[in-house]
Amino acid sequence: MSSPFNPYAEQHKDPKGPEDGRPTAFQVLEDNKLLQAWPDKVVLITGATSGIGIETTRAMYATGARVFILVRDITKAQPIVADIIKSTKGNGSIEIIEMDLDSLDSVKKAAQQFLQKSSKLHVLINNAGVMACPRTITIDGFERQFAVNYLAHFTLTTLLLPTMLSSSSPTFNSRVIWVSSSGHRHATGKPDLDDLGILDHYEPWAAYGQSKTAMIWASNYIDRTYGPRGVHSNAVHPGGILTNLSQYMTKEAIDAFTEDEEAMRQMKSVPQGAATQVWAASAPVWEGQGGKYLEDLKVAEPWLGAVSKIGDGYAAHAYDAVNEEKLWELSLELAKIENP
Ligand SMILES: NC(=O)c1ccc[n+]([C@@H]2O[C@H](COP(=O)([O-])OP(=O)(O)OC[C@H]3O[C@@H](n4cnc5c(N)ncnc54)[C@H](OP(=O)(O)O)[C@@H]3O)[C@@H](O)[C@H]2O)c1
Repeated sequence: MSSPFNPYAEQHKDPKGPEDGRPTAFQVLEDNKLLQAWPDKVVLITGATSGIGIETTRAMYATGARVFILVRDITKAQPIVADIIKSTKGNGSIEIIEMDLDSLDSVKKAAQQFLQKSSKLHVLINNAGVMACPRTITIDGFERQFAVNYLAHFTLTTLLLPTMLSSSSPTFNSRVIWVSSSGHRHATGKPDLDDLGILDHYEPWAAYGQSKTAMIWASNYIDRTYGPRGVHSNAVHPGGILTNLSQYMTKEAIDAFTEDEEAMRQMKSVPQGAATQVWAASAPVWEGQGGKYLEDLKVAEPWLGAVSKIGDGYAAHAYDAVNEEKLWELSLELAKIENP
């Protein structure tokens, strides 16, 4: 049954694949009267050059906000931004800043560049990601999925938290959105704090799962610690969407997936895939709320180990206050930054 934290329950009852009746990011904006309603908001998005990040940027632009995108390839971003502005009704703006999540130096520089351009930040959407890549070590010496999906976003968020705190107001508390994944439910998806990125016995899906749990842990930690001061945080599983994210999957793995009729019925289009993070970033129901794992435009329930490959709940290890705190402290050391 529908409720404020599960407003589209009916539409999710019987999925029929991409472009079925499940809501899109724009429907969420329309239903919440948010089109061109945000002339005073500043929004920052990572991973805006592909997949659901493009649609998320388009939606945030349509709110009328001042939107910043942090991208590793400016020449790739420019035509995407031009297309969004040309094809989307909106009176906001989109500014591009270069940032390669593979390098903590690049992340720190991008945070500084953003802060030189804006003294406000109301919404941060940590959306960029890489999935199940071969074992790779970043320039900073970390396993790549841990580094890109988690540690770089942790660094960015921590450096921007003071500005998010000062931008928070009683009518709009600042929001951090972590685009996680049901992949966090991998059997060894709980981060190994003694071997982050599990470099010693690397397995691509376990490393993806651990990086995505680490994002949930950071979200929980931020909401618990900074929520009372006006910065709330939620983690999101966007659903299954065919994007460039599958670039490291073998043809056999993709074929096995596409032959699974039930899984294909659950798949979403890109505009549908962007809906949950846009809901978390903008819907009034989330005012002053956070610390949740969301999927299909609702607060998810604990995962019961049921058959769905794509969604339906969070793993027991997604909430772990003791290890969330340990990972936060460890991450400050690894990123060589201070607590805000
Ligand atoms: N698609 C799904 O089914 C699904 C399911 C669960 C969770 N998710 C999560 O949703 C998020 C978006 O995924 P998507 O499906 O839209 O994937 P995508 O199409 O592959 O887009 C990923 C984005 O991340 C950026 N990125 C990757 N590595 C980067 C780096 N080192 N520095 C800067 N940017 C980097 C990419 O930039 P380039 O354009 O330069 O490559 C791109 O903009 C990810 O966090 C993913 O884990 C997706």
